[in-house]
Amino acid sequence: MVAVTQYNREGESRSILISFVQSIQERDIVTYEHSRRVATYAQRLARYLGWSRREAYDLALAALVHDLGKTWIANDILNKSEALSDDERRTMERHPVIGARILIGCDVHPFYVETVLHHHEAWDGRGYPNGLHGEEIPLGARILTVADVYDALTSQRPYKVAFSDDAARERLLRGAATTFDPTIVRAFLHLLDTYPNFTLPQSVCALPQSTRASQQFPFLTDF
Ligand SMILES: [Fe+2]
Repeated sequence: MVAVTQYNREGESRSILISFVQSIQERDIVTYEHSRRVATYAQRLARYLGWSRREAYDLALAALVHDLGKTWIANDILNKSEALSDDERRTMERHPVIGARILIGCDVHPFYVETVLHHHEAWDGRGYPNGLHGEEIPLGARILTVADVYDALTSQRPYKVAFSDDAARERLLRGAATTFDPTIVRAFLHLLDTYPNFTLPQSVCALPQSTRASQQFPFLTDF
């Protein structure tokens, strides 16, 4: 489980992350909006899986910055409207490492670093950047992966149409035990079935004025 609460600079870590969320919002509104939905899904999943409110909130903060490394990817790759070439894809796949390095440089709690670093690992070891297998992948990152992929599938992009909810569920089910932790896929599908309003609309938010996290991110459950 998360031990951010035992870290002697927990408040400072959270402030740093919130600053990065604002920088992502300024740099790339599409990534910010995606991260906002992913954070909400990850937080709800974590609560369903038994994490405390504070632990789930910290996972949501990690989710809000999971694509921080993309802010350092060149615009012609980041905003490309067609499929990426192999070289461009390799560049894009550096974003978890770039994001983790930025967070390490700011001395934030290792929980946030490892969640960002490993959010593209796969259950069968064929993910990146480290090719971790199964439970070697930190649990927070495994939760984040399912939330991330569901939102990516159901989002429209210049290079792809949005999957329907049914098609996205089918893709998650097919990836259970290969790409995703099957327990987390089952939990996510259960939440989708149980709560009709579980998913968030794909709307662009106005820039927040407040500096208080609970007001900036009202979609997150505060503690
Ligand atoms: Fe990512």
